[in-house]
Amino acid sequence: MTKLSAKNILIGISGGIAAYKSAELVRLFIKSGANVRVCMTPGAREFITPLTLQALSGNPVHTALLDPEAEAGMGHIELARWADLIVIAPATADLMARLRIGMADDLLSTLVLATAAPVHIAPAMNQQMWAHPATQENVNILKQRHHIHGPAAGEQACGDVGYGRMLEPQQIVDAVSATLELTHTPRPKTLAGHRLLITAGPTREPLDPVRYLTNRSSGKMGYAIAEAAASMGAEVVLVSGPTQLDTPEGVRRINIETAAEMLEAVTSEVPGTSIFIAAAAVADYRLKEVATKKMKKQGSALHLELEQNPDILAKTSLGNPDLFTVGFAAETDDVIHYASGKLKRKQLDMIVANQVGNGKGFDKDSNQVDILTAAGGHFTLPEASKTQLAFEILDIINTVYQQGQVRLT
Ligand code: PMT
Repeated sequence: MTKLSAKNILIGISGGIAAYKSAELVRLFIKSGANVRVCMTPGAREFITPLTLQALSGNPVHTALLDPEAEAGMGHIELARWADLIVIAPATADLMARLRIGMADDLLSTLVLATAAPVHIAPAMNQQMWAHPATQENVNILKQRHHIHGPAAGEQACGDVGYGRMLEPQQIVDAVSATLELTHTPRPKTLAGHRLLITAGPTREPLDPVRYLTNRSSGKMGYAIAEAAASMGAEVVLVSGPTQLDTPEGVRRINIETAAEMLEAVTSEVPGTSIFIAAAAVADYRLKEVATKKMKKQGSALHLELEQNPDILAKTSLGNPDLFTVGFAAETDDVIHYASGKLKRKQLDMIVANQVGNGKGFDKDSNQVDILTAAGGHFTLPEASKTQLAFEILDIINTVYQQGQVRLT
């Protein structure tokens, strides 16, 4: 795993001779485990073909703001929401001037306006153009909003020598990676002073010493919430089923396997907790009698007797009426109807409903959710990366939670 693993990176390419280096940049980001999409300005297509970048990124290249095909599928807003990071390399003097004043006259400049993701800019231009006071003024303004990497000094394609060369692709990848921890630091610490208890991942219910029942949860949704909450200043305890994920920075993780173990960990961590978020996919049933030795083949059919697991969310919510409790609902059909039933039955403050099955929800880097509140609120969040969605979910939780706090005092 690298810091870039599973990050959604949108690479923007504008029209300069350094555009040929962007192919290597795409390759390096893919190699570091990121999901990459590419957006090219018309000028960029004079220097390198979309087909090359499509082959390297494994995704169609986005070129036109009003492309009817793109609008029908991943329009500019969806693309802006999909990205965890935007990396513009090379960024020409013209593009930087347009970004400085907030133009939205092509797809790339529109994406920069429409995204909440951090934007990284690697300038490349003739040394005289870079030194020009207009460019320098633009750079100084853009530095306040975005990360600027380079340019380097050296011999240029036009024969000039000086500052204006785009950084080498590996240097750009390293610079972006180095700022990743900083990515979350400018987030307002709106959860400071609060302790969040979050469950994530699947549970494993043993059948015998070598076999178990489980599900497809990867833990990505719950871990993204834990990471986002920590970067918003919260004290975070993550109770996690078995996953392949690294513990997010600043998060205390408790590993469990079964639903019974998850319940025990959650119960002992509830005191002092302000908000409980249950994103784990807990097995509803477990084997009534777990075999102590490996089960032998028993003819053509095997009958297992299952008993219900405790409902961790319902028990925690009903046993702690002052705890702000948020459940998730994973549904294959009639999502809002079933989620609303769980919200009421388990007496939750809020439920995050997502459609699952057919490649949705479980073990994906993106998700689409609806949030229902006990007071009758309904928020629909369009599909976005789980990282991005985590911040949006927490912002809504925090707003509703603070309103409750105000009402109580
Ligand atoms: O982990 P990922 O691959 O990123 O996938 C994310 C996800 C799809 C798992 C996540 O977004 C999600 O929907 N989590 C809840 C999955 C689930 O078990 O939903 P449910 O509708 O069966 O359960 C409703 C709620 O009760 C959930 O908050 C669940 O944690 C909780 N529950 C369920 C059963 C049980 N015995 N105890 C519980 O606490």
